[in-house]
Amino acid sequence: METQLLEGQKAIELGAKLINSGDVVIFPTETVYGLGADAFNVEAVKKIYLAKGRPSDNPLIVHVSNKDQIRSLVSEISDNAQKLIDAFMPGPITIIMPKQDSIPKEVTGGLNTVGIRMPSHKVARDFIEACKCPIAAPSANVSTHISPTNSKDVYEDMKGRVPLIIEGGDCQVGIESTIVDMTSEVPTVLRPGGITPQMIADVLGTCETFKGEVLVAKAPGMKYKHYAPSCTMVVASTKEAMIKEYDAKQKEGFNPILIVRKSWQDNLDKRRFISVGDTDDEVMHYIFAKMHDAQKVSNYIICQDFGTEGKNASVMNRVNKAAAGVRV
Ligand code: TXA
Ligand code: MG
Repeated sequence: METQLLEGQKAIELGAKLINSGDVVIFPTETVYGLGADAFNVEAVKKIYLAKGRPSDNPLIVHVSNKDQIRSLVSEISDNAQKLIDAFMPGPITIIMPKQDSIPKEVTGGLNTVGIRMPSHKVARDFIEACKCPIAAPSANVSTHISPTNSKDVYEDMKGRVPLIIEGGDCQVGIESTIVDMTSEVPTVLRPGGITPQMIADVLGTCETFKGEVLVAKAPGMKYKHYAPSCTMVVASTKEAMIKEYDAKQKEGFNPILIVRKSWQDNLDKRRFISVGDTDDEVMHYIFAKMHDAQKVSNYIICQDFGTEGKNASVMNRVNKAAAGVRV
């Protein structure tokens, strides 16, 4: 299959045409690029799983272009869910609510809940609006690969697997949306993202973070290996440990590279590094894109531990998975 990469109104119109004829289309959002299909077209939804090579019991997020659309997808919006919608939509959040019977089980992986997301990216919203249907979409990467945050990375990973990629520039947030389960007794973050548990607690008074063992696909990215670069990646707790590991691996014949924020960049001598910027927002924005870059020029990635405060915890959720929990 030939994959077109197009931008502007033409791309949106062609994208909507493809969606309405039962095909899949890759589109940009403010978090990562998504691989979309008409959420009510079971055959189209199956093409998502095929294009990603993803196990079909992992549920998909349903994307809307406006808040009125949400009512037709969920059987109930609790007062607290409404507060989150008012506070954070459109934006990098997915809210799990009880689903309407009409949503196919192929979308929700057989669960009786559905994750709803309204992106803030203008191209995403214009595209969904043009489709005139809610769009089921996972991140637009081959299963177990890193989520793409720019059209170059998405094209490299997905070319030949989809007819169209809609260009939308760099994704501003840079990691996937925060997923919050509003069907549990206490609002529970299943996947941290740009909106932190603290920001949710500031609105609702309380918010927990899911830390348990995953038996069903309730907490994303835990049942299957996710977010992994093609080579080994480890996390360094301290700068000293990072340098020691770099030198040791180089002696063993590896071609290591460091992923660091600005504060760790000094005195690295001739060791190769990639910077993910200075502020917490920059680190989140760059982390996936720089992991993509690093795996192309190195066979051993050593990533700094960015800490556990606020958005850094969300970044480390992805980094720790990419490193399969290995620390030096
Ligand atoms: O930012 C994002 O959320 C991106 C963009 C494209 O919107 N999408 C995304 O989708 O990251 P995906 O499929 O890569 O991750 C969604 C995760 C899945 O791992 C799934 O387990 C979880 O959301 N999920 C979806 N519906 C759920 C539900 N009803 N209950 C619990 N988890 C759910
Ligand atoms: Mg994903």
